[in-house]
This record gives sequence, C-alpha cells and structure tokens, in this order.
Amino acid sequence: MILASNLTLAYDSKKNIIENANFKIKEKEFIFISGSSGSGKSTLLKSFYGELPVKSGHLLVNRIDLSKNRYSSLLQLRKNLGIVFQDYKLIKEYTIEQNIMLPLKVHNYDDTVSKNQVKKLLKHVKLSHKIGVYPEELSGGEQQRVAVARALSHNPSIIFADEPTGNLDDYSSDVIWTLLKNANEQLGITVVVVTHRIPKDLGIKYRRFNIDEGVVYEAS
Ligand SMILES: Nc1ncnc2c1ncn2[C@@H]1O[C@H](COP(=O)(O)OP(=O)(O)O)[C@@H](O)[C@H]1O
Ligand SMILES: [Mg+2]
Repeated sequence: MILASNLTLAYDSKKNIIENANFKIKEKEFIFISGSSGSGKSTLLKSFYGELPVKSGHLLVNRIDLSKNRYSSLLQLRKNLGIVFQDYKLIKEYTIEQNIMLPLKVHNYDDTVSKNQVKKLLKHVKLSHKIGVYPEELSGGEQQRVAVARALSHNPSIIFADEPTGNLDDYSSDVIWTLLKNANEQLGITVVVVTHRIPKDLGIKYRRFNIDEGVVYEAS
C-alpha cells in the first residue's frame, strides 16, 4: 500500500517537482503513471523506493514512513520491492543467472531454491538458453527481460518500473507486459509503471495517475 498526503518533492529549494500530492494505491493494484517528459514521473517513483527524501507531507510505502527516511527502514522497505529501470542496470561482470540471483543472495535465500527460481523466471522471459552468458552478449530487449526477472526474483510485494519498455522492440515489450500482468494477476504483486504509452490490449484493470505542473491527479 502506498499512501501520499500532501507529498511535496524537490531536488533543491527553488522549485518543487511534485506539490501537495494526495493519493492511495492499494495492495494488488496495477497503476500507470503518465505525464510529459520532465513532469516528475521518475522523481515520484524515486520517492516511493526511498531514493529521494520527502521534502514535506507524508509518504507511507508498505507501512514504512518514508517521511522519516531512516536507513534501517529503507533496508526493510527494499526487501519487499522490485525495481526496473529504463537502462536495465544489470551488472556486467555477472552472468544472467548471477544477476537474477542477486536479490536472492542479498536476502539469504537457499542456493537450490535460488537456482530453481532463476530457471523458472528465465523460462517466463524466454531466455533459458542465455543462463550462462553476460549482459553485453544480449540485445537491449533481452537485457530488460533479465532486469524484470531480477526484480521479481525475491517475490516482492510491489514492483516499480520506470519506462521499462521505452526503447524496446515489440517482442520484448510484449514479454515484459505479459510478465508484469501475470505478476499482478497471479501473484498479487502491486505494479506501478511509468510509461508514455499504455499498451492497448493489456486486458487488466488499472488506474492511471497523470502529472502536470507538479500536480498528481487520477486520470481515465
Ligand atoms: N537529480 C536531479 N537534480 C536536480 N533536478 C533533477 C534531478 N533529476 C530530475 N530533475 C528535474 O526534475 C524534473 C522532473 O524530472 P523527472 O522526474 O526525471 O521527469 P520525468 O521522469 O517525468 O521525465 C525535471 O525538471 C528535471 O530536470
Ligand atoms: Mg523519467
């Protein structure tokens, strides 16, 4: 659950990027965040995963009060989050298997459980044959499919994705939307996605928030 009340975000004292936002995102919802370039979509998402401190107002994510922004609560928060970036952020010295296993290692999952989880996810993203290769040997679309698999590997309760299909080919985009949709429908994971283009035939109930001039409002 994400609850924002009078949430205001800024990088410096001159200008607020998000001003007095009030909204609630319930568990198991599928949410899109839209808005023109530079409107503050990534900024809002960064506040959700504790990358950007709250300037004023309140922000609760999974019952953790991010207005306080203590280091210990950030660690607790991240345990239950999966994050996907537009530029994948895979570790290039690690194989695909090691990349997907990273969150599992951090959270002390058993090795056999981890390896099985990686195999299952690689099947979902149609990359089983790439398990031992390095990110550089993959196309952008393939790398992003690995990044989504990694974000889901430790069974988070929320997944945040910032323009996950921004520069991708149609096939990779389809694989990613299907994965996010299934994560939401079948595993009950809350999904919050920043995107310019909402896919037409997603076949899922969602809500959309738009950002304009610092104002966050629910749009249809
Ligand atoms: N690290 C930063 N420091 C200062 N200003 C930033 C930083 N990141 C983004 N901004 C500014 O905040 C505004 C919103 O940016 P952003 O959230 O990245 O927009 P969007 O994701 O909607 O394209 C822009 O004016 C941008 O220049
Ligand atoms: Mg952005």
